[in-house]
Amino acid sequence: MKYLSEANLQNKSVILRCDFNVPVKDGNISDYSKITKSLDTIKYLLDNNNKVIILSHFGRVKTEEDKNKNSLKIVYEYLRKYLDLDFVSNPLDLSDINNSSKKCFLVENTRYTDIPEKRESANDLELAKYWASFADAFVIDAFASLHRVHASTAGLSKYLPTYLGFLVEKELKNLDILIQNNDHPFLVIMGGAKIDDKIKIIAGMLQKCDKLILTGGILNTFLKVKGYNVGNSLVSTDEEVLASVKNILNNHSDKLIYSDNFIVKRDNENIKVNLDEIKDNDIIYDNLVNEKDIIDNAKVIFLNGTCGKYEEECYKDGMSNLLNDLSNSNAKVIVGGGDSVSAVNVFGYQDKFTYLSSGGGATLEYVANGKLKALEYIKENELSN
Ligand code: 3PG
Repeated sequence: MKYLSEANLQNKSVILRCDFNVPVKDGNISDYSKITKSLDTIKYLLDNNNKVIILSHFGRVKTEEDKNKNSLKIVYEYLRKYLDLDFVSNPLDLSDINNSSKKCFLVENTRYTDIPEKRESANDLELAKYWASFADAFVIDAFASLHRVHASTAGLSKYLPTYLGFLVEKELKNLDILIQNNDHPFLVIMGGAKIDDKIKIIAGMLQKCDKLILTGGILNTFLKVKGYNVGNSLVSTDEEVLASVKNILNNHSDKLIYSDNFIVKRDNENIKVNLDEIKDNDIIYDNLVNEKDIIDNAKVIFLNGTCGKYEEECYKDGMSNLLNDLSNSNAKVIVGGGDSVSAVNVFGYQDKFTYLSSGGGATLEYVANGKLKALEYIKENELSN
């Protein structure tokens, strides 16, 4: 696989896959970092007189209603402040591109093609071939989507010479700090709510790290499996996940750490409690991670996930204190995951850490396994450049 930085791509028609799957709150984009991080590659391609056709997914599209909620038009409205581009509203019909004098296009959400039958997400090669027919080269810059083997992230590489964009190059090189890591203690901090997605990764991380701090919704499930009352807090109910948690607790409890300080909602009040004070109807909304010594002692730290509902003033302490402790440590600190990076931005720690990754699931998969499924596919299938 070649990096775009090593290629001499000029005067071509290029399909560029970005990840514009940005968070939206009350109808507005709440974090622009994925878009702004893509601009270097877009501008470079345009400056070199290439026609640039941008593809991206946006949200999960399983029903017609999901289509309305997940239009990339909102990203187009933002991008047009910086770029002279057109919007192509049907990802199954790019013919307007051939009749336009514009040099840059954003195509509507690739996952629209998953209705009525999965095409993008099933890596439908007819779809990839159709998109490829509009271009001479494929540049993949959607780092955060590289754990998905989809038509727009992988399939296109069968039909076009393929290059890794600037963002992908930067991510891979920076995350190599964690993959090649020989510095110890290596501390991983995992939080957030998506335990069902993260459970396999936690097992992989435990093979690599010296200590793992659990926090956020993930911690609730571990506590429940340990037999604690976590009230009505968010926990996984998936039998397989619960069995994996049990297995992790049996085999790695020496590496697992959690702090016994929670903010729970009880009868409409927020109160600070320890684990053995949690009552049946309490809901845990924040976990105060008081592990400064372990953080100070670490040489490398990877943070993925948040301590609680940090967006609300009454539940922000866990995350804001944790980021403060991390910012004061001498360790190399790498943060991955949409929510964690948003929290870094909200609390103003953007310049305090070694690297902020644009990936969520992709970053986790890469750090835990050293591989990304779409990159593996591209390596095996790409047309030689
Ligand atoms: C992300 O936000 O992690 C990526 O855009 C991938 O999104 P997905 O989990 O919906 O594939």
